[in-house]
Amino acid sequence: MAEKKVEIRISGKTIQAQAGETLIHAIWSAGMPESIKTGCAGGVCGACTVTLRYSDGRKGGTELACMKPVEAGMEVFPCPVDAEAPVEPVMEPDVRSLQAAFPTLNRCTKCGSCSTACPMSIPVMDSVLRMQKGEFSEVAEDFTTCIHCGLCRFVCEDKVKPHNMGLWVRRSLGMSRDLSIPHGENENTEKEWQYLMHTDRELRLQNARQFRQTGKVES
Ligand code: SF4
Ligand code: SF4
Ligand code: FES
Repeated sequence: MAEKKVEIRISGKTIQAQAGETLIHAIWSAGMPESIKTGCAGGVCGACTVTLRYSDGRKGGTELACMKPVEAGMEVFPCPVDAEAPVEPVMEPDVRSLQAAFPTLNRCTKCGSCSTACPMSIPVMDSVLRMQKGEFSEVAEDFTTCIHCGLCRFVCEDKVKPHNMGLWVRRSLGMSRDLSIPHGENENTEKEWQYLMHTDRELRLQNARQFRQTGKVES
């Protein structure tokens, strides 16, 4: 049986796609790979973030093109977020070192756009305010579920770079404590993995917090 074809629009251009395939596959098949950035192609890196609108009036929103199946009448708007060179983390970070690494820290005008845009419901603006006060454990926790789609940076008129700062805080805290997973100790590695990936969300966050603070897995 012939595959069902649907029409979608990407940045104003109409293309044919096969029902059920992902947006990324549709644009690859249409010979337009440059129209949406791609990284992992597995729903992790956030590089392929797009916003969607539907012709039948359904509410659109933010999606990952590598995970989202096409639907007839879908209109796709890529959100190209330019890559930022990583900023080296530091030992024992504080507000001064964060400010030195990111002079954008105090530019926030508290507009709230970043929190509204975040597909992971991270309280991004509140976290920027916590960064300004040096509440870094809380910041690390806020960004635990960040997929680095860059949307908070994309929408920020003041170019504050919230998620880059959040990642820097997490990396700096991690560097300041010995959280390294021992190589060659498969039993321990497996134990740590199970501990950190607990299926209960609250317990998972609690375990991640405890591990961040002590570098130890509770038995
Ligand atoms: S979008 Fe930018 S200026 Fe607005 S609250 Fe977020 S970080 Fe602050
Ligand atoms: S990069 Fe920003 S918008 Fe994307 S998940 Fe992380 S905090 Fe949310
Ligand atoms: S390409 Fe990495 S999330 Fe889609």
